[in-house]
Amino acid sequence: MNNADNTTLSERKKESYKIFNEIAGTYDLLNHTLSLGIDIYWRNKLLKHLPIKETINALDLATGTGDVPLTLIKDERIKKITGLDLSKGMVDIGIQKVKKKNLDKKINLMIGDAVNIPAADNSFDLTTISFGIRNFSDPQKSLHDIYRVLRKDGRVMIMEFAIPSNALVRAVYFFYFRHFLPKIGNIVSKHKDAYTYLNKTVEQFPYGKDFLKLMENAGFKNLECRPLTFGIAMLYIGDKID
Ligand SMILES: C[S@@+](CC[C@H](N)C(=O)[O-])C[C@H]1O[C@@H](n2cnc3c(N)ncnc32)[C@H](O)[C@@H]1O
Repeated sequence: MNNADNTTLSERKKESYKIFNEIAGTYDLLNHTLSLGIDIYWRNKLLKHLPIKETINALDLATGTGDVPLTLIKDERIKKITGLDLSKGMVDIGIQKVKKKNLDKKINLMIGDAVNIPAADNSFDLTTISFGIRNFSDPQKSLHDIYRVLRKDGRVMIMEFAIPSNALVRAVYFFYFRHFLPKIGNIVSKHKDAYTYLNKTVEQFPYGKDFLKLMENAGFKNLECRPLTFGIAMLYIGDKID
């Protein structure tokens, strides 16, 4: 990739929420069909690794249309979830979904930046991000801020795409991400290039040990990296122990 492409990509990351405003109406449909429903299975995985606490006050960053809060709320230890996203279009759809399920007393979705989290220190027991952090303008700063807003013994869980280690899986994955997904995504969302850069944001983002290093820099301990579905995605877990 040349410098011009790099500049375009970093500009697009800063403005990614604007593109999400434009594709919000088709986001859920495309997400579930293009992932063949695997995204739902992945989000459910979060429920298996909740922090060991009697009650949990959770924060979901880059919450989009609220699928993570709507998943987490299935565990009755989770009393309250705040979801933040920079895209009003995505949040508005999420609010409708939450209302429809009568969960608006427990789930509060609002506009907010994951890189400058509008919350006091030591406020949450759990912070989650699913498929959002690779688009943040400054992922390391966000991880520091997550550490700040978590309480002692709080946990962060982050799901993000990765590059599978198996050569055959990787070849199929690259074909899907580089050729199939951009074409179908742009057609269905009726957006000229919303899905064009998706593969680049994935291929350039640190994964595995490199991502754990960012979490370690922010102060997290008990670090874990769990491959999901042949390593197509990873679930990263870290604790704030002091
Ligand atoms: C791929 S969507 C993921 C949505 C949701 N977490 C899910 O799993 O379906 C990425 C979301 O990140 C949001 N986003 C990008 N940068 C952000 C930031 N700095 N703060 C908050 N949200 C951000 C976008 O607006 C978009 O809704």
